[in-house]
Amino acid sequence: MFSSTSLLVTIALALSVAANPILFNQRRAGTPITLKSAKRVNATGTFNLVVRDQARAKNLKAKGANPTLAFKNAGVVGSIPATNQAVDYTVDVQVGNPPTTYTLLVDTGSSNTWVGSSKPYIQTSTSIQTNDQVAVTYGIGDMEGTEFNDKLSLDAGLNVFGQSLGVATSSTGFDDVDGILGLGPNDLTVGTLKPDTKSTIPTVTDNLFSQAVIAANQVAISFEPTTSLSVQNGEITFGGTDSSKFVGSINLAPITKTKPAANFWGIDQAIRFGNTQILKQTAGIVDTGTTLTLIASDAFAQYQQLTGGIPNANTGLLQINATQFSALKSLFFTVNNVDYEFTADAQIWPRALNSAIGGQPDDIFLVVSDLGTPSGEGLDFINGFTFLERFYSVYDTANKKVGLANTPFTRATSNFNSV
Ligand SMILES: *[C@@H]1O[C@H](CO)[C@@H](O)[C@H](O)[C@H]1NC(C)=O
Ligand SMILES: *[C@@H]1O[C@H](CO)[C@@H](O)[C@H](O)[C@H]1NC(C)=O
Repeated sequence: MFSSTSLLVTIALALSVAANPILFNQRRAGTPITLKSAKRVNATGTFNLVVRDQARAKNLKAKGANPTLAFKNAGVVGSIPATNQAVDYTVDVQVGNPPTTYTLLVDTGSSNTWVGSSKPYIQTSTSIQTNDQVAVTYGIGDMEGTEFNDKLSLDAGLNVFGQSLGVATSSTGFDDVDGILGLGPNDLTVGTLKPDTKSTIPTVTDNLFSQAVIAANQVAISFEPTTSLSVQNGEITFGGTDSSKFVGSINLAPITKTKPAANFWGIDQAIRFGNTQILKQTAGIVDTGTTLTLIASDAFAQYQQLTGGIPNANTGLLQINATQFSALKSLFFTVNNVDYEFTADAQIWPRALNSAIGGQPDDIFLVVSDLGTPSGEGLDFINGFTFLERFYSVYDTANKKVGLANTPFTRATSNFNSV
């Protein structure tokens, strides 16, 4: 496997202040907030991405099927031994007064925000301990601890007061970050507190909106394909969108009615490989916390056959050769009657980062992988951040919609050409 690999890729995602000149201490209430973030790939000590993403998928399906699972009961779902995230997409936030900065994993597939996995929580004058314990399981790790209310700052002068915040007394799988910023629908927080097992915890986005810091209860995310160890590229925007990060229009699709996907940022989507349908319209989710683009096992079997890919033992990913790559057709993800073209280049792991996941520089690995369960179970795909590196995404709580748009990088050819 790749336990011998020790490579850290730190990619600072751009602060969009340049593109969208918000002067933070002069900002108008209601103006969107855009934050820089970082993407990191560190496969040290982690086994293959497919096993990890499948374990997360299994947990998401179980949680979505029963969103009010009692405290800790989500833990009955087959978790894999916790290893650290191989790929992180993080944002820095400050908590307390005086503030402590925490680097949090950005996760649209969960909704609890918590700190304390790596850097300890420092209580200050703004910290108020509640009577609740908190516990969340992720299939790839878990946390438990005590729920506090505290001041959370996204940038100078941009404060959320009384943010309900988990403080981990123990956690596994998240040693490389200080906690999680949960950007999923807040219903997913029900059942994570004890004794307030029926309570919903407002997310950071909910509080920014209810405290009138932002004018719309929504988050937008820009990722871009990355090939080098250090590159600035991407951002998260609260309360609006950044028009410099997408091209054409954002197409909003209603949250799917099909459970369990309906309890997440779930959409209905069909998938074609060229002209061949491999997944008929079905429900699934958009999730920044999943690395790969996962499709139900029957769709994956067709994809494997059509691509000629062979599973690679080290990475778990399908591998193709250069001839097969030149014949690789685009995948078309159809959402709300709009086709999103996921090109051949988009379908492969950036070759410049092959060694970070246990491959050789010239190898060609497909990022479309097996969800691990058949279609028809109400969560038949996960558009992870390999998908989101090609499409701008908007998570609109108020209107219960998910938006997608093309970006200047939708048709980039950097994944193949990076070696
Ligand atoms: C990479 O991950 C390993 C295993 O989780 C960890 O020990 C190491 O500190 C990480 N490297 C960096 C530079 O964060
Ligand atoms: C690529 O793989 C296909 C299918 O196994 C094989 O027929 C072909 O010869 C290979 N091409 C090269 C250049 O290795």
